[in-house]
This record gives sequence, structure tokens and C-alpha cells, in this order.
Amino acid sequence: VLRTIETIEELKNWVQGKKDAGLSIGLVPTMGFLHEGHIKLVETAKKENDEVLMSIFVNPAQFGPGEDFERYPRNMERDKQLAETAGTDVIFAPSADEVYPRESAIAISAGRLADQLCGKSRPGHFDGVLKVVTKLFHLAQADRAYFGQKDAQQLAIIESLVEDFNFPLEIRRVETVREPDGLAKSSRNVYLSEKERSEAPHLKKALEIGKEAAMDGRNPIPLMEQHLNANTSGQIDYIQLLSYPDLTEKVEGEAILALAVQFEKARLIDNLLFNIK
Ligand code: PAJ
Repeated sequence: VLRTIETIEELKNWVQGKKDAGLSIGLVPTMGFLHEGHIKLVETAKKENDEVLMSIFVNPAQFGPGEDFERYPRNMERDKQLAETAGTDVIFAPSADEVYPRESAIAISAGRLADQLCGKSRPGHFDGVLKVVTKLFHLAQADRAYFGQKDAQQLAIIESLVEDFNFPLEIRRVETVREPDGLAKSSRNVYLSEKERSEAPHLKKALEIGKEAAMDGRNPIPLMEQHLNANTSGQIDYIQLLSYPDLTEKVEGEAILALAVQFEKARLIDNLLFNIK
């Protein structure tokens, strides 16, 4: 049965026990309010590791002033059930004081990788992600950690952290899980009004239109702007075509086409990764 751990001390003991027994650990970091995207990460981790450790922690360090930290959706009891059914062995659900017992003097920066996409409108966000992920990597001593392509910039930044600083684990990419109508699953989809929810599949449609143009060597951005403005009430935050995972403007080979649209209460993001010749 699923075990829930709330302290670092107890987590260290659990990890040591598994290491001593020669068992591999797959880490699935989340902020909870689980949906099929998170579940896919767990299922993938379960196939590749003896033990699956999921963290559930709404990380204050990655929310800016005026963002949705306080009202971020939470439901621990439901999360525990979903996590267990998917094959999670342990949930690490610490308090903020447990994770951040004092103000750290040291800052970890995402550097130029945060200059594009979501980094532009969410200053400090990816530094906050790196802060918590670094801690989780050191505590979990996982063999593999699982991240969704849905948050492709986050994934690219974490891959860079691991490669540049020789973290002894493998980052595994998991494809975006979508609703039947194409909307990428997100904990924040619950913020959408009924009308916005019906418009939201146009994000994926716009990406497909843009992908086709980009593969033909045409500029995807104006077509996508036009599609989104004609079919949604949201405000476009950005649409960008970049190389992936290095996020530069020179696009050949692996590319990312990504967008963010601000609705009344929810800012939605989505992306496609593909190859440009
Ligand atoms: P959260 O938004 O809860 O997402 C946890 C993980 O689930 C991330 O790796 C994210 O990319 C993945 N995910 C979310 N929606 C998905 C979908 N539709 N399909 C596939 N994967 C999906 O991302 C975070 O939390 C935090 O920033 C965290 C990494 C936990 C650090 O606090």
C-alpha cells in the first residue's frame, strides 16, 4: 500500500533502505491535483524502476507575486488514491517549512534558457523550479526522473541542469497527454469557464496549422495568431518557434513550436516538438 512521507528525515531513511536493497528509484515530481498526465509519468516510471517516488509539493519558490500560489488547486486525498492506483509506492508531501527551513543565500539560475517562452512573462519561475528540483534530486537519489513534454521549457532547463552539473540520474521525457478534443491536460484547466473550455482545443489546432507551415519553410506565427484570435477569447502571451532543447532562434533539426494564451483565470500553454530540415 501507498505510504506518505512528510519529513526529509523519513524520506532519507526510505531511500537508504531501497539503495541498500539494490532497488532502483524513479522520481515523479508534481504539484498535485493529479490528472492523466501525471498518471502517465507514474506508469512510465513503474515500468522502468523497482520503486516509484512521487513528490507532491506546491512549490512557493516558482510562483511570482500575483500568480496563483494560494488558489492553486489542491486535493491530497484524491491524489493519494490516483497515485496508488497508477503504481506509486511512496508520496513525499512535505510542508514548505520542511523544504525551505531558512532563506537560502545561494541562487540557482536558469540563465539564458529562461529568456524565451514562459520565462519572459514569469521572471524567476524557472529559478524556483530548479531550486526545488535540485533538492528533490539530492534527496531522492533516483536513477531516473520523469517530466512531461507539456512543460517543454521546464524539461529543457532540467535536462541542461543535469547535463551541465553531472547529476547522477537520467531525465526521461514523457509525451503530452491530451483530452479527446486535443486540449493538453493541466491542473489549471479547472479555472476555465464553460465557453473558454470549448475554445481551448484551438490551441492545439493552431499548433498543427503552424507546424505544417514551419515544415514547408513558411512563417507559422501570423497564421497561428489569426487562428487563435478568430476562435478564442484569450489573449496571446507568446507564439515562438525555436530550436529544442537549446531554445535558440536558429531553427534546424529538433524544433519547438510553443504558445501561451491567457484566459480570464487560466494561462494555458502547449507545444509541439518536431524536426525541421
Ligand atoms: P506539475 O504542473 O504538477 O507537473 C508535474 C509533471 O507532470 C511535469 O513534469 C509536467 O510536465 C507533467 N505534466 C503536466 N501535464 C501533463 C500532460 N498533459 N501530459 C504529460 N505530462 C504532463 O511541473 C510541475 O508540476 C512543477 O514545476 C515541478 C516540476 C513539480 C516542480 O515544482
